[in-house]
Amino acid sequence: MITPGQTWRLDGAETTLVFVACGHDNIDLAYLGPRLPQGEEGDVAAQLARYGRHENQLDNPPVQGLFPQPRHGLRDAVAMQLLYKGKLVDARFELVDVKCDDHRLTIRWAEQSTAMHAELDWDVEQYPAIRISLSFSAKHAEDIVVVRAPPLTIPLPRHIAQMTSFGGRWAKEMQPLAQPIESNAIEMRAIGGKPGFDPGSWLVFDDETDRQCLGMHCGSLDDQITRCGLDQEGRPFLSVEAVMPSGGISLPGQQKLFTRATIIRAGDHDALTRAFHNHAREHILPDRKGWPARKVHINSWEAVGFKLEESALKALADEAADLGIERFVLDDGWFKGRRSDNAGLGDWTVDKDVFPNGLQPLIEHVQALGMDFGLWVEPEMVSPDSDLYREHPDWCLGDGTAEPPTERNQLVLDLSRQQVFDHVLRAICALIDAHDIAYLKWDHNRRLPPGCSWQEDAAIRLKAQVREKYPEIEIESCSSGGGQISYPVLHNSHRVWPSDNNDPIERLSIMDGWSRFLPLEILGNHVGPERNPITGRQTSMDFRAKAALFGHMGVEADVRAMSDKDKTVLRDHIALYKQWRDILHSGDYWQLDHPDPHISAKMVTGGDRAIVLVAQTEFSPSFNTAPVRLKGLEPERSYQISLPRPWPRKARHYLADPERWEDGMVASGRLCRESGLALPLTHPETAWIITLEAVDI
Ligand code: DGJ
Repeated sequence: MITPGQTWRLDGAETTLVFVACGHDNIDLAYLGPRLPQGEEGDVAAQLARYGRHENQLDNPPVQGLFPQPRHGLRDAVAMQLLYKGKLVDARFELVDVKCDDHRLTIRWAEQSTAMHAELDWDVEQYPAIRISLSFSAKHAEDIVVVRAPPLTIPLPRHIAQMTSFGGRWAKEMQPLAQPIESNAIEMRAIGGKPGFDPGSWLVFDDETDRQCLGMHCGSLDDQITRCGLDQEGRPFLSVEAVMPSGGISLPGQQKLFTRATIIRAGDHDALTRAFHNHAREHILPDRKGWPARKVHINSWEAVGFKLEESALKALADEAADLGIERFVLDDGWFKGRRSDNAGLGDWTVDKDVFPNGLQPLIEHVQALGMDFGLWVEPEMVSPDSDLYREHPDWCLGDGTAEPPTERNQLVLDLSRQQVFDHVLRAICALIDAHDIAYLKWDHNRRLPPGCSWQEDAAIRLKAQVREKYPEIEIESCSSGGGQISYPVLHNSHRVWPSDNNDPIERLSIMDGWSRFLPLEILGNHVGPERNPITGRQTSMDFRAKAALFGHMGVEADVRAMSDKDKTVLRDHIALYKQWRDILHSGDYWQLDHPDPHISAKMVTGGDRAIVLVAQTEFSPSFNTAPVRLKGLEPERSYQISLPRPWPRKARHYLADPERWEDGMVASGRLCRESGLALPLTHPETAWIITLEAVDI
């Protein structure tokens, strides 16, 4: 029996959550903040957070809480719309029980007329992450169609005043947008399984006054609407609603309908980023601790596109090996009928017209050069112009029409059907069994049609089964760039492709967005061609190479066509990346503040070493931009500061005392933080790498 006012307390290492029963079959979040002293009673926290009555309320004022229902008189509550045996039901959920152990609070509600259950979990087991999930299940699922499901509702601490969402589009992912939280709720839609393009999946909440911030991830491949606003009593909230297709969905078998979110709390933005990185490293990424060094890639896509030819690819590999590149990834275009993006998906056998002797001669060539071999696949998709589609036109996910619309000339296979799943799994396994493949670039280039809830589970299962069978193979997840980057996808990925945009000026801001949440070792970052095919912008090799260093570095340009000068610059940067990748890929990441918004500055510290990237993307309004102030160094220690070669072209001219910089200087962590480094950053395309190593003096 639960009584109003009853409280439950959950403690993570540095965070406490206090929940309180608030009548109306609801539970509220009374406290989410730094860990409270041992012995501090939950009911005191609840009392301190409680407001009295005011003049303009219902007699029995409802609280939005964790599971608001409109029948209690709540303005923002979403009613569950159900069809039970074909008839619309007015769903009324009643609180059944609350269970609380050291790490987890589980609340259950039951709906009387349909025998449906709702279950809400708040779990701090993977601290610093607070994982929340809301699920619906039905005993007699065959009788029920869910037309609209209530959202997962998260009441936010009252001091939270601003939300920054990260969203964008293809080739411009993760652009931050800061907005005040107001009573007109902000609504963000992620549709078609591209939570990496649409806003709403990666969020930061903060309060400018005391720098308490929260980060949130609610990525799902299902269509979802995320709302953030003030409830009718002025309290900030976030809600995540899984959008049902028109006509609703039934719950086949024992399936549950899930909505999930992860919250991380921290004192400031840098701490929040580190907490997100640590969470990904420890809990999200597969066997992260055992990963070998992240090899430098050459990828054929922006080098040769669909113009694949064995001898040209071998020549590309020769040049790549000479630059110090360690992995050759053969991108799209190698399989049957795939001469353009019009045809071929689904037919996962090597195209004999392009590779008359199969892929083996190329693989052996690559391996003889000391590199390993990676291959591009897009297993969930099918081209209408393919043998697979001609044989099984009914294997696709539709939108209810006879001819579902194609996107990039392709359709999605319905992997939730066992027969289709088995076929695709067999095809991918046969490919791997026949070739010595160290790496798969697993792409996904179109949106899902509405109402494909079970596709996400099936797609994840497919990748998991491939991983289980071939644990030594690394998998990169790509979805027209960063379209699908989310925790469910990352659970089976060793790397993601943050964007198709390799233009360093765009890429720096895209990487700044992703790095707020994900560590550099999984963020692919490539040196593209001199003229970027997406933006048309031309940039120097020095700038492209420096921008690509902060991430998992690769090259995606025709190295055969590069000038000797560019090759030397690139070779030097690849060598520098190899010297520093242990720190870049395990250290603490810091975004550096700078008054010029066109300067992207960040650093990684690890043990006695640190590496910094500072890049100017526009023509600066002043000749002498403000010094770059470093973070994360020990104030009392002394560091040898170096500007490793090569330097940006115009910089020598503007650098004060280049000879002194040539030798490097020794300064304390405090001086680096307080005074910073005056670097010439006037011109766009000027970037510096700075390295620091602690010295005993
Ligand atoms: C989209 C990816 O993001 C690109 O990197 C490339 O692999 C193409 N697909 C190939 O079709």
